Amino acid sequence: MNDLVEETLVLVKPDGVARSLTGEILRRIEAKGYQLVDIRLVQASRELLAQHYEEHQGKPFYEPLVEFMESGPVVAMRVAGNRVIEGFRMLAGATDPTLAAPGTIRGDLGRDWGLAVQQNLVHGSDSPESAARELSLWFA
Ligand code: RTP
Ligand code: MG
Repeated sequence: MNDLVEETLVLVKPDGVARSLTGEILRRIEAKGYQLVDIRLVQASRELLAQHYEEHQGKPFYEPLVEFMESGPVVAMRVAGNRVIEGFRMLAGATDPTLAAPGTIRGDLGRDWGLAVQQNLVHGSDSPESAARELSLWFA
């Protein structure tokens, strides 16, 4: 470990947990070489989700997104490694699972279900600032 080691928040969203893909997603993270530092199964409250998705408040998909995220348990993971924030976003693939490249989590395991919000299996922090903020929310 050195001072360039980062941490990120990964969430296996309710669709991933319901489809029993938590193990497959963690397998990919570990196979890439990142380190699992902490993990918990969480039934997220509306308050937690409102803070987590603060940047999306007011957008048309916000309400369906929060309803989806509170529809079942999520698995929250603290994951560490050099450039893990960027690296996990590459593992996850594009937001829209139809367009996510094969080889990525969303590209291999996700699809469009014709719902009000894309169910795309995972969340990953998108910057060091987001990671610090989100890790303090989910691992308070
Ligand atoms: P995430 O935050 O979950 O890691 O995903 P992301 O950065 O790739 O996408 P973001 O723009 O932050 O959007 C958050 C989540 O909202 C849902 N979404 N649906 N037009 C849509 O249907 C739409 N846009 C966003 C997705 O679940 C997305 O991951
Ligand atoms: Mg995002």
